[in-house]
Order: sequence, then structure tokens, then C-alpha cells
Amino acid sequence: MTITLAITGASGAVLARAALERLERDARVEHVDLVASPHGMRVAREELALAEGTLEQFAARLLGHAAAKTQVHDDRNIGANIASGSYRSQAMIVVPCSMGTLAAITHGHADSLIERAADVALKEKRRLLLAVRESPFNRIHLRNMLAADEAGATLFPVMPAFYDQSATVGAMADQFAARLLEHCGLPQADGFQWQG
Ligand SMILES: Cc1cc2nc3c(=O)[nH]c(=O)nc-3n(C[C@H](O)[C@H](O)[C@H](O)COP(=O)(O)O)c2cc1C
Repeated sequence: MTITLAITGASGAVLARAALERLERDARVEHVDLVASPHGMRVAREELALAEGTLEQFAARLLGHAAAKTQVHDDRNIGANIASGSYRSQAMIVVPCSMGTLAAITHGHADSLIERAADVALKEKRRLLLAVRESPFNRIHLRNMLAADEAGATLFPVMPAFYDQSATVGAMADQFAARLLEHCGLPQADGFQWQG
């Protein structure tokens, strides 16, 4: 599979890190296209204490090692592969997804690479997971979420489960990431399953 991972400026960079780690080590995933908005990089640097650097360095610092199958893209590069429906990408995950990016996707702005790639995912009827995060929501957020769902996206709010007994934030983020990948058609052997 080829999957796009987009990081925007909502809180929750630890979830993006967990998702990228799982995508990188999943043998069924051949290629990952990674794109972060400028605000997404800024918030991630703050939350994960990452040093400034190039896009490649950002990916490596997020992972803690050099990426093996991840291609990084500048959010301003509207000519990147993922901007076209002809590029065979099976799913796109936006984690975390800010209310700003949710609004832009919902209203078809397609100005940045993230917005365009999400627009492409919707028009090609491909999986688009939006891990939205804000609290509390205003009615604009709520209406935009409904509109995104109606357009074909899956709203995957940053609302981790608490019944899996995750002991740390990292473990909770990892299980959240496992659920994201499961929704991309990638069952996770170590994903928690409630047994009743
Ligand atoms: C530390 C920090 C945390 C933020 N958390 C959120 C958040 O949880 N949800 C949100 O919608 N915006 C949040 N924002 C605001 C967004 O970063 C801002 O609206 C930005 O314009 C989003 O741009 P983007 O969607 O292009 O990444 C946060 C900003 C900062 C600096």
C-alpha cells in the first residue's frame, strides 16, 4: 500500500509519530508520503521538543531514526505526486487535524498540498481519515465535521479509548495509531481487541 500521512497544527504530534512508526515498520506498506503544514511542524516541534531543520530531518527526528520508505513533501509543493488522482495512493490520514484544515478540506479550498491531497482522496473515493482535535467544539467545527463525513471522509477524533489499560501517553497514542491503520485496511496484530 501507499499511504499519505499529513500533520497539521492541532495538538497531538505524538499521534503522528505513532502512526508514522507503525507505517514505517508495516511490511504491507511500501511507501509513505509525509507532508506537514508549517503550523503542524511548529506544534510538533514544541510538543516533541524537536530541533529545527529540513523536512527530511523533521521526519527523522519524529521517528528517532532515518525514514526508510517515507518521502517528505513541502506543503507548498502543489506539484507533488499526491496532488494528482493519477498517483496510486490508497489512503490519507490527517493526524492531528486542525479545525482550520478541517474547514479548508470541507470547503474544497485545495490551496496547500495537504488540502489538495485530501480533495483528491475525496474525489477518487479513497479513504480519508481526519483525526480532528479541539475542545470544546463550536458549531462551525461541528457543521464542518458533518459536511466532511457527508463528502466521504471518516471523522476519527482524537478521543483515545481508556478500556485498553494503556499505562502511558505513548502506549495510548500507539493504540490510537493502530486503530487508524486498521481503518486503512491494515489489521494490526497487536491492536487491542475487547474480548468481552
Ligand atoms: C501549541 C498549539 C496547539 C494548538 N492546538 C490546536 C488544536 O488542538 N486544534 C486546532 O484546531 N488548532 C490548534 N492550534 C491552532 C492551529 O495551529 C492554527 O489554527 C493553525 O492555523 C492551523 O493551521 P494548519 O491547519 O494549516 O496546520 C494550536 C496552536 C498551537 C500553537
